[in-house]
Amino acid sequence: MSEFCPGYVHAPFDALAAAFPDESAYPFADFRTEWGPIFHRGRLDGSARVLVIGQDPGPHENILRRILVGEAGRRAQGFLAKIGITRSYVLLNALLYSVYGAKGARYVSKPKVQDYRNLWIDAVISSGNVEAVVTFGGMAEKAWAGYANVHSPPSGLPVQHLTHPTFPESAGGTKAERQANTRKMLKQWNGALQVLHPAITHKDAPDSLVLYGDAFVETDKVDIPSADLPAGIPRWMYDNDGWTRRTGATVLDKRRNITVTVPDGVIP
Ligand code: URA
Repeated sequence: MSEFCPGYVHAPFDALAAAFPDESAYPFADFRTEWGPIFHRGRLDGSARVLVIGQDPGPHENILRRILVGEAGRRAQGFLAKIGITRSYVLLNALLYSVYGAKGARYVSKPKVQDYRNLWIDAVISSGNVEAVVTFGGMAEKAWAGYANVHSPPSGLPVQHLTHPTFPESAGGTKAERQANTRKMLKQWNGALQVLHPAITHKDAPDSLVLYGDAFVETDKVDIPSADLPAGIPRWMYDNDGWTRRTGATVLDKRRNITVTVPDGVIP
């Protein structure tokens, strides 16, 4: 049996998913608003113990309609597993739509963007069950600040602001620079693991802490569970990424087209 995400059935997320900011908050010039908003991944039934905030959705997210489902998602999932959290999480992004161009960060604190995002964050935190918050990347850190400055998160709630999981690749540079950035990021993540592992008392998997080495190994990355995705998603879409990309000869073509390719070995 494949478990699946029931979607937006719990209040207030049902109402939030029905009334989302459109291009008046996320202009077409700076966002791929044409692909619609992508709201979350994980538990919306009040059982989440960790809130993760990411950045913005990419093409994999545009297709699967859940956030952090590609390489960054598998790395984030692996981080959560190391603190004993295999299903009790909610992931939100700082931005609802994929950033187009370089101006996305300017929108994180704009009132229409922030106020709506704060409704989601507040609904997650209001369960009273969240034991830690993790932000990945600068936009996510700003998103949390935009919440914490307006609402009052529970005092003593551990919050860790971490480098975005795919920063080493997005920063570019040589292979040696990428390796150095990865090493630096994992050192920072290890510091956070040592704070969060003891702080989270309701773990899904109470294993002892295994820190990262200098580079990701395959066991540091965890596949996206089918329980986080809409019903009927084929396994190859959540076991790995790299099956979709924006394609086209012109900038406009690339905005209009996402090509999905079934990987080798799936069709007998
Ligand atoms: N995909 C997301 O949904 N968020 C990120 O931060 C990165 C990739």
